[in-house]
Amino acid sequence: MTKKTQQRIEKLLKLLSDGKFHSGQSIAEKLGVSRTAVWKLIQKIESWQLTVYSIRGRGYQIPGGLELLDQQQLKLSLKNNELFNDVILHASIDSTSNFLAEEWKKSPGYGRVCIAEHQTSGRGRKGRSWVSPFAANLYFSIGVELPLGLSALGGLSLVVGMSICSTLNRFTNDRVKVKWPNDLMVDDHKLAGILVEASGETNDTSFLNIGVGINWDMQNFQGELIDQPWINLKQLLVKSASRQQILTEILCELDAALVDYLTNGFSHFSTKWQGYSAMYQRDVNIMLTNEVVSGKEVGIEANGALRVQTVDGIRLFHSGEVSLRKKMA
Ligand code: BTN
Repeated sequence: MTKKTQQRIEKLLKLLSDGKFHSGQSIAEKLGVSRTAVWKLIQKIESWQLTVYSIRGRGYQIPGGLELLDQQQLKLSLKNNELFNDVILHASIDSTSNFLAEEWKKSPGYGRVCIAEHQTSGRGRKGRSWVSPFAANLYFSIGVELPLGLSALGGLSLVVGMSICSTLNRFTNDRVKVKWPNDLMVDDHKLAGILVEASGETNDTSFLNIGVGINWDMQNFQGELIDQPWINLKQLLVKSASRQQILTEILCELDAALVDYLTNGFSHFSTKWQGYSAMYQRDVNIMLTNEVVSGKEVGIEANGALRVQTVDGIRLFHSGEVSLRKKMA
């Protein structure tokens, strides 16, 4: 997509965000393009899983309107962050995590956030894809360089999950829990997923690319590809809040949590794990590459490893997928 098309789409989205009908002619005039070009732009945004009504004689409408994220406001709100305060907002991109990895190669060394309203190739863990319809959810990645070797990053991934969980709990009356290592769950339904990708050139510096997807108001038909029960944040709110407000609070709290981790280490986070864990004292299966281990989750180690009570005693896990073990009828 050319820069010009991008700018036109951004203008078009702002116009239609009021939820009212706009005639093809009036849009064409405001964008300085032909009516055929408007129709093509509409087709483009429809391909981002956005519903646009097109009614002869009335024009185009996005039913219910849109609450779009605002890059300038985000920049202002993040200006005092220590680790990342630069914000890039895209209407549509392949993946915010891919974007940051590429940016890092071009200009490494300073922290930034990439947010998208839509992703064409959103990525989940284990090579899964992440369904990313336009403005229905939150999709963002944070890139930071940390003075830590890759081996120190186990705890850090939990710090990310716990920090976002703590922000979301202020809006939901403590409904959100963390499923090790960093899925966010409500009543065994997935609310958010976190993809932590790290690379290190030396033993004492790592580039951390933290990708976060939070379900906000995802519709069922868009969720056909999702292979597990999921839930939306919007339906859990106990006070009114916009995506923008929640995202801002997540980004500020996460910046502070990472600084805290760098200054004080992981141990004081690990002592709080029980209060955060979705699986503490529950029967779980740990899916490893060639094995499934059953047991009861009994906490985490000071380095972030999961402690599981099995029939052979306590086992520690540094990686793997945790799932709830269903009771036999
Ligand atoms: C998971 O599998 O649970 C992790 C999902 C992470 C999805 C987010 S959406 C923003 C960022 N960009 C991506 O391509 N993936 C992450």
